[in-house]
Amino acid sequence: MTSVKTKINIAIDGYSSCGKSTIAKSLAKELNYVYIDSGAMYRAVALYALQHNLIQPSGAIDEAALEKALDMVLINFRYNTETGQNETHLNGMNVEKEIRTLQVSNHVSRIAGMKAVRQKLVKIQKRIAEGKGVVMDGRDIGTVVMPDAELKFFMVADARVRAQRRYDELRSYGSDVQFEEVLGNVSSRDEYDSSRTHDPLRMAPDAIIINNTALTLDEQFDFVMNHVKRKMEDVSNVV
Ligand code: CDP
Repeated sequence: MTSVKTKINIAIDGYSSCGKSTIAKSLAKELNYVYIDSGAMYRAVALYALQHNLIQPSGAIDEAALEKALDMVLINFRYNTETGQNETHLNGMNVEKEIRTLQVSNHVSRIAGMKAVRQKLVKIQKRIAEGKGVVMDGRDIGTVVMPDAELKFFMVADARVRAQRRYDELRSYGSDVQFEEVLGNVSSRDEYDSSRTHDPLRMAPDAIIINNTALTLDEQFDFVMNHVKRKMEDVSNVV
């Protein structure tokens, strides 16, 4: 484990299924930091909307009703000693598996495009970041949630490679999804997330780009850790 006293915040943004959470989790573990999966929070709101019939079969969202219900949507993360992971809870129920389904993925970007939803979740995320020692991944972390993060990464990878990774992951959970469906979802979320009005996916000007199309997990981790170590030395020298 790295023995450094000054805690920093690390933002990881990027396109869907880029492996942001994989690198964020291993960084948080190595540094003994808190890992926050901001996408899981948007997914939990989408699941809530599905469970309460606030999304029509046509895909239309009853935005007024969802906005009204937002105060009743309680999201938190609880550590599971069996899996060694922080798992997402929605109103007290563990929804870690349900929020990863393709059904939720198919609706989450439009839910995440709603101003009221973003206001609620960004406020919670900003509060968590105040404690420092946070690794958070998402779409607007380096630009909106933690614009002052000491270190920012922006992850990219070839869309087919990303879709294949997500397809393998969903299949490993026993889902019978087709590759083309997953590719379609990955591409349409990228487009929607990048072009929405509120807090679109953008690379922060001070972010470091990681293209992990051809990188192994170890190579990627070493690349990121080198930046982290350097940044921590800089910060310790200033303090
Ligand atoms: O795992 P994957 O990269 O596919 O997505 P995710 O991080 O679980 O995020 C799911 C969706 O939530 C994204 O496609 C965005 O629409 C939305 N999101 C967002 O708008 N802002 C964030 N900070 C994180 C996620």
